Amino acid sequence: MRIVIGSDHGGLNLKETVKQVLNELGMEVTDVGCDCPDSVDYPDYALPVAEKVAQGEFDRGILICGTGIGMSIAANKVKGIRCAVVTDEYSARMSREHNNANILALGERVVGPGLAEDIVRTWLTTEFAGGRHHRRVDKIGALEGK
Ligand code: RB5
Repeated sequence: MRIVIGSDHGGLNLKETVKQVLNELGMEVTDVGCDCPDSVDYPDYALPVAEKVAQGEFDRGILICGTGIGMSIAANKVKGIRCAVVTDEYSARMSREHNNANILALGERVVGPGLAEDIVRTWLTTEFAGGRHHRRVDKIGALEGK
């Protein structure tokens, strides 16, 4: 699976942990930055990740900031993106099974590295359930541009 990942300074350390997990899982990983702990603006990293997923250049995206919230708000502005902020394994599974989330947002100041690893593994290995959820996700798509 091709994964594009990005963070701001608040998510930099957790991004390195997540990249190790992605490598262990045999994922093809591209990191769009940031690369150093200097203060940056999270929308500048949410946008390239969201665009690359929306355009089909990558299968899924992972965004990390202090809380995951700013990244998710920004990424969800891009058409075709369903970005979920996840802080527990159950929500990780549901965001895939029910919502077909194509970007995962994590908060380094919220989840520790062990929990983040479990979330990432679950999120990447859970398939969309389809069925009635397909109809609902299609209705989310219909809201774009309103
Ligand atoms: C940066 O201090 C922080 O605001 C950012 O990482 C993120 O948590 C925003 O949602």
